[in-house]
Amino acid sequence: MALLNQFRCTSPSPITPFKQQQQLTTTSFTFPRHHRRKYPSLTAALASDDSKKKKLVLEVKDLTAVIAETGKEILNGVNLSIYEGEVHAIMGKNGSGKSTFAKVLVGHRDYEVTGGSVVFKGENLLEMEAEDRSLAGLFLSFQSPVEIPGVSNSDFLQMAYNARRRKLGQPELDPLQFYGYIMPKLEMVNINADFLNRNVNEGFSGGEKKRNEILQLAVLGAELTILDEIDSGLDVDALRDVSKAINALMTPTNSVLMITHYRRLLEFIKPDYIHIMDEGRISKTGDISIANILEKEGYKAMATS
Ligand SMILES: Nc1ncnc2c1ncn2[C@@H]1O[C@H](COP(=O)(O)OP(=O)(O)O)[C@@H](O)[C@H]1O
Ligand SMILES: [Mg+2]
Repeated sequence: MALLNQFRCTSPSPITPFKQQQQLTTTSFTFPRHHRRKYPSLTAALASDDSKKKKLVLEVKDLTAVIAETGKEILNGVNLSIYEGEVHAIMGKNGSGKSTFAKVLVGHRDYEVTGGSVVFKGENLLEMEAEDRSLAGLFLSFQSPVEIPGVSNSDFLQMAYNARRRKLGQPELDPLQFYGYIMPKLEMVNINADFLNRNVNEGFSGGEKKRNEILQLAVLGAELTILDEIDSGLDVDALRDVSKAINALMTPTNSVLMITHYRRLLEFIKPDYIHIMDEGRISKTGDISIANILEKEGYKAMATS
């Protein structure tokens, strides 16, 4: 258990993940990996140069939030920094505040922020309306996706996509152009074109809802994608499809924050960091070894004492 103390986190780790160190480059020169082992101080200097160049996508500091209706505090001082291209996972016991954190980030009206700050791509996220957060490139796949009776998937997606295009100063797509745009996305997520004519999530199975969330992500694009238990309700084939699509959507500038209970998802979408949420704050940060210990010993192994 003492080993776990190395994962204790009071502020986000400044260490460049190993994966990125392996790809260490300067603008004109790549420092060969075997030399990096020989000259650790030079490697460290280049690594810190490299992390300076990477843009901070999300910076959460001491975030506290309550349930708007009752005033009950759920988030209790969350600190988290995500740089572009990084994949972060949050694990934690039921009721520790993971979904609340995700929903507070997208501006869900059930919660009221009572302290701290959230900066998204250099802007104060907490001052933005929920719709503007999404237009700015923040996407949340909800743990329980909502149904929208009477609105077809294709109308919904076209409307949402055109709103994003307007925001980006691009011309809107008409239905025919949109059809051409969405067909390869359907293939990417491995879902049938019939999906487009059905009402949003109405009568969808749990797995279909999750696939539909990823279709929305594929259509809209996002700089920061938050996936809240995207693996729940998926059989192994669906999990593989969904993970493949998410990986295909990753670019060097997009980032992912995924909430999960299971190591299985982390085998498909490899995280750079794993955080443990406990009683409304991130209590530990580490690498895949945290998930390995969790799988074997459960959350009691994460106790700090
Ligand atoms: N809208 C809400 N109304 C009442 N209680 C809520 C609401 N949202 C969250 N909670 C409570 O806040 C706590 C944290 O919930 P949640 O963030 O969903 O946890 P997790 O996703 O980690 O399982 C739980 O006790 C839950 O019942
Ligand atoms: Mg949850």
